[in-house]
Amino acid sequence: MRNFICSWLLICLTLAAAFPQTPGRKTRAVTVAQETERRVDELLARMTLEEKFGQMNQRFSPRNKDEENNLKSQAEMRQLIKSGRIGSLISVTGAPECNELQRIAVEESRLKIPLLFAYDVIHGYRTTFPVPLAMAASWDAETIRRASSVAATEASADGLHWTFAPMLDIGRDGRWGRIVEGFGEDPYLTSVLGAAAVRGFQKDDLSDSTALIACPKHFAGYGAAEGGRDYNSTEISEHTLRNVYLPPFRAAAGAGAGTVMTAFNDLNGTPATANNFLFRQILKSEWAFDGFVVSDANAIAELINHGYSADSAEAAQVSLLAGVDMDMQSSVYLNQLGRAVREKRVSERVIDDAVRRVLRLKFRKGLFERPYADEKLVARVMLSPENLETAREAARKSLVLLKNENSLLPLKKDMARLAVVGPYADSRELHGSWRAKGDPQNVVTVLSGIKSKISNRTELKTGVNIAESVAAAKDSDAVIIVIGEDARDTGEGGSLSTIELQRKQGIDQEELVRAVQAIGKPTVVVLVSGRPLAIPWIAQNIPAILLGWHSGLQGGNAIADALFGDYNPGGKLPVTFPRSTGQIPIYYNHKNTGRPPKEDKRNTSKYLDIPATPLFPFGYGLSYTRFAYDNLRLGAARIELGGSLKVSLQVKNIGERAGDEVVQLYIRDVAASVTRPVKELKGFSRVRLSPGEKKTVEFTLTPELLGFYNREMRFAVELGKFKVWVGTDSAGGLEGEFEVVAAPARNALRKR
Ligand code: BGC
Repeated sequence: MRNFICSWLLICLTLAAAFPQTPGRKTRAVTVAQETERRVDELLARMTLEEKFGQMNQRFSPRNKDEENNLKSQAEMRQLIKSGRIGSLISVTGAPECNELQRIAVEESRLKIPLLFAYDVIHGYRTTFPVPLAMAASWDAETIRRASSVAATEASADGLHWTFAPMLDIGRDGRWGRIVEGFGEDPYLTSVLGAAAVRGFQKDDLSDSTALIACPKHFAGYGAAEGGRDYNSTEISEHTLRNVYLPPFRAAAGAGAGTVMTAFNDLNGTPATANNFLFRQILKSEWAFDGFVVSDANAIAELINHGYSADSAEAAQVSLLAGVDMDMQSSVYLNQLGRAVREKRVSERVIDDAVRRVLRLKFRKGLFERPYADEKLVARVMLSPENLETAREAARKSLVLLKNENSLLPLKKDMARLAVVGPYADSRELHGSWRAKGDPQNVVTVLSGIKSKISNRTELKTGVNIAESVAAAKDSDAVIIVIGEDARDTGEGGSLSTIELQRKQGIDQEELVRAVQAIGKPTVVVLVSGRPLAIPWIAQNIPAILLGWHSGLQGGNAIADALFGDYNPGGKLPVTFPRSTGQIPIYYNHKNTGRPPKEDKRNTSKYLDIPATPLFPFGYGLSYTRFAYDNLRLGAARIELGGSLKVSLQVKNIGERAGDEVVQLYIRDVAASVTRPVKELKGFSRVRLSPGEKKTVEFTLTPELLGFYNREMRFAVELGKFKVWVGTDSAGGLEGEFEVVAAPARNALRKR
């Protein structure tokens, strides 16, 4: 017999922790909320049905190549705004442009409801940061909060109110191009970082004119696309959905995210964009989310392609009933909902709820008070030295040192001759996918970062193809080979059938590395990518490998900082690196199976032709110094159901340089009503230690962290043994054990 503690208790605990407010602030918040609802009521009462559909309609600004058509579409759009038929625009940027259109809404439309201007501000706006997967490698919520805050300040100065970020899709398949946009494979890491991104974009108060409304996406399961092929269907059990795919969205909603976006995928036979279970039941009912839901681009119309709706009338109806409040791009709501109401297929009550949610956000954003952007801000905030420094620091924090045999790195700045070669040495692809308004010309390439780092006595030799690179290497004291992938090999529609190195500029990249390595000079590989890459030969044969990612405008400077010892890399992998594409899906928090892999035993769960372990595990990353762990202490050997457990340990820098270590806490629920992963991350802390310095790191395992959605699909902690590991990555660590036991005293009391 197993005991449970109810999910409501945990939800209360979570909410209490998420919104620690003083009574005064709380009362003020309630009053503001009441006042907002009153204003929404007042406005709703004055709206015609058509004006309501307008608020539920989001359009891209027309981008016709043909000038005449463009003018015609622009004029049509202005007319629609004037008649209250558009509630939000995407891809209009620039304060003057936004203000001009806003003026039509606010001064020429009947009800003067301001427009919401939206844009994909994914990893920075003008100052671009590392791609989100790289940012996740920082394992540093504060870095992500700060980067998102800078992005919001820049984007809002350009007239924007709303970003379609953060992407919180769990990515377990490196073939999927959009793995670059998320925070990796782990629900806990993604939850913590996702909540930080929301706080960064939205700042302390949405009505702050420098804040952007966040939009966690894509709800839900998009990252599980079969075979990693973008837009592909997903089959996800409810357990896996609730335990793996949904927690980051719950955390983002808890952090106050104003909106949520649907996903393109079919989820267990119901496309996410028409999925009542996701939006009405989970998001709006169980989580009491009071923001609004926007469809992904054209996703409502695409319900017809899915074979879920016969025509656009049906598509509009099912999405609305499922809880999708705003239609991005397809105009299906605008054109179809009138008939749906007249034919009583949808009630006006449902329409009003959707419109209420949109208006509520417009009030919260302060748009009725301040509809216009300050056109003078741009010059002051864009690409400021502070923003660029924040981007450089974020790029440094994202670097992952994958290998460093015999401390080859860092290199000396004053070596006589240095070769920097490969197709990405001087490439702006480092910028990454979804670069918003980042100008590629501002990207510091790896080569230019190195140039400004090394002494002016060092002779620098460069090369791109194999012959040039070999010649440069022969003539040098050390060689840095920069390889990887283009930004467009990742991102939306950027899925690949293999994650081995691609040919680039006609060069077989692995052949290039082999040829240069054969020269016998000290060789460093820098990887520039937005996904995990399968590089087994390189991992085996090259002594030093630095993962530089697609790291935004300042990537080249940050990489050079690390290569030459001005920065000691301390990032960790947010995603497992497989040995080959065929090893996918491979992720650390898998189930054990009845026959866990044993290298020397045939009938176990593994492939015959490669080891069962990954090339580099989740959480992995080295440093120029070394860290020793000891003194793992658990607050108790047993805790009562509903109780928490303190876990502490000591970590010491036993090397010669200062450095960052990400201390990681994992647990395993040994036997449960549904099988649990072999390990689950439940805590982490990035600590900075000087040589010889020792720190005690403490974690608290709360019921929220120990529980999961169990056989009854209730969130609960179950009785029994748990294992705990604390260490430097997901593959090892100091090990402990404790037990969750029933609470006899309270049970006895209840019986009486
Ligand atoms: C993507 C979204 C994005 C939207 C608007 C879609 O194709 O899936 O993530 O926010 O376009 O640009």
